[in-house]
This record gives sequence, structure tokens and C-alpha cells, in this order.
Amino acid sequence: MRFFIDTAKVEDIKKAYDMGIICGVTTNPSLIAKEGRVFEEVIAEIASIVDGPISGEVKATTEDAEGMIAEGREIAKIHKNMVVKIPMTAEGLKACKQLASEGIKTNMTLIFTANQALLAARAGATYVSPFLGRLDDISVRGVDCISEIAAIFKAAKVDTQIIAASVRNPIHVTDCALAGADIATVPFSVLDTMTKHPLTDAGIAKFKKDYMAVFGE
Ligand code: G3P
Repeated sequence: MRFFIDTAKVEDIKKAYDMGIICGVTTNPSLIAKEGRVFEEVIAEIASIVDGPISGEVKATTEDAEGMIAEGREIAKIHKNMVVKIPMTAEGLKACKQLASEGIKTNMTLIFTANQALLAARAGATYVSPFLGRLDDISVRGVDCISEIAAIFKAAKVDTQIIAASVRNPIHVTDCALAGADIATVPFSVLDTMTKHPLTDAGIAKFKKDYMAVFGE
């Protein structure tokens, strides 16, 4: 399983990219709004840092396929790595099919069932984004959704890749990897937590103490 970072915060993207752990970025309307910056500017800046797929979502207020297609074409023009993120609706499927036929990469988002993922794949989606944490929030095991999608895509020989989204903690990350997600898109805080273990810190402190006892500084 590969890692994308799920944020529009440029400093966090740079930190994660410099650590060598991410190969793509996902944003959504809430994350862009949180930064309070112009969409195109943020995306262009992200593209100058990360050489990999960058998902930019159509406007949250655009609900018809024609509008999503027009916006999707504009998003695709920003940079060669752009992926157009589209919400999972009947109109979104139409837009996905059209954009895919034009060679534009798409990420169907707000996926909560395996059936939604299969429909998105059949409409030509490059990626599907099942939301793990939001399913857990309503007492439905999000990881089961990812396992089902992975099993169905394998059986049906579907090329669409699974991006586990709404990842909230390190256990989610392990669960997604075991369930067969191709990618997990993870907030920086979770990636950072994943680097840490108290025994690693204790080991470093002991190595340092033992080394210094013999060799000094
Ligand atoms: O990629 C989707 C993700 O940003 C949603 O996460 O934590 O708002 O459910 P969350």
C-alpha cells in the first residue's frame, strides 16, 4: 500500500514529501476552505512540491454532470498530475465517464459501499475513495467496506485503484493495508504518529548513553 497525504496545507505536504513517504496528495472542499486560499493557487503550489497524482475536487456547489465536466476539464489543465475528484452521485458517474473518455484521471469520492465503488469503476474512475472513518463514526466497520471492494475488484479484474480515505489513526492505516487498499490518504498528524514508538526512543537513548560512556561526545 502506498501513501498519499490528505491535506491542502502546503507546509505539511512539503514535510511529508521530504521524508520520502508520500507519492500523491488528495484535497477536498473542506480542506481547501480550511486554508482560506484560492483553489488554483494552492493546487499549483502543491504540484511544484509533489511529482505524483494530486486530487482536486469539483466545487461543492456543482451538482450537475455538465458543470462537473466543465470544471473537471479546467482542473485537469492546471497540471499534468491532476486527478479530478467527483462525488459519488448519478450525475457524478456521468461526469466521470465523460472525463475518462477524454483521458482525464478521476477519483470518485464519498464512497460508502462496495456497490458504489463498482459503479464508479465501471464509469471509468481511475481511483475510488471509500471513507473509512466516517463509516466507523456511524458504527459500520469501514475496513469491511475496503475488504469488499478489494475482493470485488480482484475478482472482476478491475484496474481502478482503491484510495482508503477518512483515515483517522495509525490502526486505520494497518487495517487498510491488510484489507487490500492500494493507497491510504492520510493526514500529516497520523503519518507523524506512525513514525513514533516509545521503544525506538528508549533504544536511541540507550545507544547514545552506551556510546558516550566509552567514546565521549
Ligand atoms: O479524504 C477524505 C477525508 O478528508 C475525509 O476525512 O476525517 O473528514 O472524514 P474526515
